Amino acid sequence: MRVIKVEDYNKLSELAAEIIAGQVSVKADSVLGLATGSSPIGTYKVLVEKYNKGLLDFSKIKTVNLDEYVGLDGESDQSYRYFMDENLFNQVNINKANTNVPNGKAQDTLAECERYENLIKELGGVDLQLLGIGYNGHIGFNEPDGIYPNIVHIADLTESTITANSRLFEKVEDVPTQAFTMGIGTIMRAKKILLVAAADKADVVEQAATGPVTPQLPASILQLHSDVTVIVAGK
Ligand code: F6R
Repeated sequence: MRVIKVEDYNKLSELAAEIIAGQVSVKADSVLGLATGSSPIGTYKVLVEKYNKGLLDFSKIKTVNLDEYVGLDGESDQSYRYFMDENLFNQVNINKANTNVPNGKAQDTLAECERYENLIKELGGVDLQLLGIGYNGHIGFNEPDGIYPNIVHIADLTESTITANSRLFEKVEDVPTQAFTMGIGTIMRAKKILLVAAADKADVVEQAATGPVTPQLPASILQLHSDVTVIVAGK
């Protein structure tokens, strides 16, 4: 695991965007695994700037997002589909048909998990997976647990994740309690992984990178992946 410490969030966003831009440039039809949340917002902003300068072409890019809340549809402004459309997809020349987020409104949730895992396989796997990290070390919505879930599944969100995510909802009761998420196995099958962490996550990143590998701190499994870059902002 390569841990790069940068001065601040702007530097983190620039560096992460450079890495993603490099991937898009060397393989125009890359499959990008994407994340939502506060951490990658700056990265998406820099990617849009690069696109506007004519430096990037997303026309053949395909994407698969890590997760989506159970019960929210893409029109809901708290959904991860909405987040992606707003922060990236609507601002670049990506073909929306090539962008994938689990269907939060799926009636048959188990079938939706299976469909999403198979879709990733059919796309040939993820070339570069972007991740954030939770204060408890979660990646995707794989919360601390006794096992590493292997495939896309429904996760029950922990109290701390619900509290952390409630900032984007009117009240904490509105935060969905479950989410579709790639499993740890799904994430680990990506060819390359890029994790971005703002300064408030420095401690958990340190534990994940140097502590024991344990499902009680899900991100620690990344120590076993052969191509992981972690960018941490200093302030
Ligand atoms: C988001 C995701 C989550 C977040 C994590 C950090 O798609 O899968 O694991 O990356 O909760 O969230 P922020 O960046 O908002 O602190």
